[in-house]
Amino acid sequence: MVWVPRVDEIPLSIAFLDNNIIYFLFKVKGLGTETLSKMCKGEIVGLKGPLGRGFIVEDYTKSVLVIAGGIGIAPIPFFIYRSKYKKLDVVWGVKRREELFDLNIFNQDIGDRYRLFMATEDCSYGFCGTALERLKNIPLEDYDIILAVGPQPMLKGVCEYIRNTNLEAYVALETMVKCGIGLCGSCFIRSSNKLLCIDGPVFRCDEVIQHLGKTNNSKNI
Ligand SMILES: Cc1cc2nc3c(=O)[nH]c(=O)nc-3n(C[C@H](O)[C@H](O)[C@H](O)COP(=O)(O)OP(=O)(O)OC[C@H]3O[C@@H](n4cnc5c(N)ncnc54)[C@H](O)[C@@H]3O)c2cc1C
Ligand code: FES
Repeated sequence: MVWVPRVDEIPLSIAFLDNNIIYFLFKVKGLGTETLSKMCKGEIVGLKGPLGRGFIVEDYTKSVLVIAGGIGIAPIPFFIYRSKYKKLDVVWGVKRREELFDLNIFNQDIGDRYRLFMATEDCSYGFCGTALERLKNIPLEDYDIILAVGPQPMLKGVCEYIRNTNLEAYVALETMVKCGIGLCGSCFIRSSNKLLCIDGPVFRCDEVIQHLGKTNNSKNI
C-alpha cells in the first residue's frame, strides 16, 4: 500500500526491487495515482507491506505462461527476475503500441529468461487482437501453469478458456482495497468468503470464477 500524504493510500504491485530501491509501474487513474505521478525527488510517500499472497515463483519442473493485459504487466518484471521455471513465456496485450515498453528496463539481464508475445488491439504492433485472443493461438499443451494479470473481463476469459484443461491457473484480482491488513472488509470476495488483501490478490481460477462471472467492474463495492 502506497500512502500519498494528504490524498489517499492505494494498492500497487512491486514492479521491481533493486537493493534499496522499489519500483512501481502505474497508470494514472484518479487523484492518488495522478498526485503520485507528479511527485518529485525528495518528497515523501508511506509504504505498508509487503502484503497478501503473490504468484508462486519457483518450480524447476514446470513451464509457465503469463497473460498480462495493459498495466496488469506491472508486477511482471520482478516476477520474471525472481522466477525459476523450466520455461517462461509472457503474452502482453495492450490497446495501442504506445502503451508498450521494454520489460527489461529495471534489469537487462532478465531478457534471456523469458519469451514475449505482444498483441495490440489497434493492430499497430505484434499480434492483431487482445491478449486473450493471442492466448487462444498458443498451444497450451506446452505449459503446466497459466498466470493472468489484467482487467477483470480478461481474467474471466482466461479462466473460462482453460476450464476444461489440466492446467493450473491463477489470476491476480483487483477489488477495492482500503486497510490492506484484513481489518475493514472492503476487499471481501463474496462468492469465495476470502479477503483479497490477506488471501490474494492471487487466487486459483476455481476459487474466484463465480466472482469473476458476477461483475465486469474491477471494484468490489
Ligand atoms: C493488489 C492490487 C495491485 C495493484 N497494482 C497496480 C499497479 O501495480 N499499477 C497500477 O497502475 N494499478 C494497480 N492497481 C490498481 C490501483 O490500485 C488503482 O488504479 C488505484 O488505486 C487508483 O487510485 P486513484 O486514487 O488514482 O484513483 P481513484 O479511482 O480516484 O481511486 C479512489 C479510491 O479507489 C480505490 N481504487 C480505485 N481503483 C481501484 C482498483 N482498481 N483496485 C483497488 N482499489 C482501487 C483506491 O484505493 C482509492 O482509494 C492495483 C490494485 C490492486 C488491488
Ligand atoms: S482491504 Fe481491508 S480487509 Fe482487505
